[in-house]
Amino acid sequence: MHPDFWQQRWAAGQIGFHQATPTPLLQKHWSTLQLPAGTRVLVPLAGKSLDMAWLAAQGHRVLGVELSKLAVEQFFAEHGLHPQIEHSHYGVHYRSGDIELLNGDVFGLDAALLSDCAGVFDRAAIIALPPAMRERYAHTLYAKLPAGCRGLMITLEYPQEDRDGPPFSVPESEVRALFQPQWEVELLERRPIPQDHPGYVGGVSRLDTAVYGLRRRQSQD
Ligand SMILES: C[S@@+](CC[C@H](N)C(=O)[O-])C[C@H]1O[C@@H](n2cnc3c(N)ncnc32)[C@H](O)[C@@H]1O
Repeated sequence: MHPDFWQQRWAAGQIGFHQATPTPLLQKHWSTLQLPAGTRVLVPLAGKSLDMAWLAAQGHRVLGVELSKLAVEQFFAEHGLHPQIEHSHYGVHYRSGDIELLNGDVFGLDAALLSDCAGVFDRAAIIALPPAMRERYAHTLYAKLPAGCRGLMITLEYPQEDRDGPPFSVPESEVRALFQPQWEVELLERRPIPQDHPGYVGGVSRLDTAVYGLRRRQSQD
């Protein structure tokens, strides 16, 4: 998925993935991670998701990473916030209170930047990437998160032959193949999404969502 694809989606306002409220499955399952308030949570491919504000309201420090400058600016404008702006080799950092949104490429992050991310929240992120990029995503971004890091990952599952992504279908077998070498992976919930649900993906014959709890193994595990 070329960066231009996403830049054009934002420029054209084609952001059907954006939700007007925080993700209910985040609100339902986040507490199972038992991440203390004050810990920093990475939100990759963040968009202008209200999940970032929800995580900050739980007492977390949030690091969102998003390619589109429009998305980043809209997030702060829509929350009536006036962020401080700083440039680094990762991109442009917008900071307000406990929320930092980095306008940059998630594949350009390194372990130094992520060293204090004790949590990660992945919604409409891994499923936004085609197969080869998902492998790179797991093996580069997730591999740089520190030992003990805990996360919640929400995926979609549907017959991939029904349509092209994004969003892509990411079956449990793939989640386990990508992450289990370095992460404990627990399926917390799988449920069907009904056709009349606003989150239903057009052109698919059936649709499930799955929620995983992740825990990065200690290097000696
Ligand atoms: C499907 S949207 C989901 C946004 C958000 N997670 C949500 O739930 O609303 C995927 C987002 O990832 C961003 N994105 C795609 N590739 C990226 C990359 N390499 N680095 C940072 N952001 C990226 C896109 O601009 C888009 O806003």
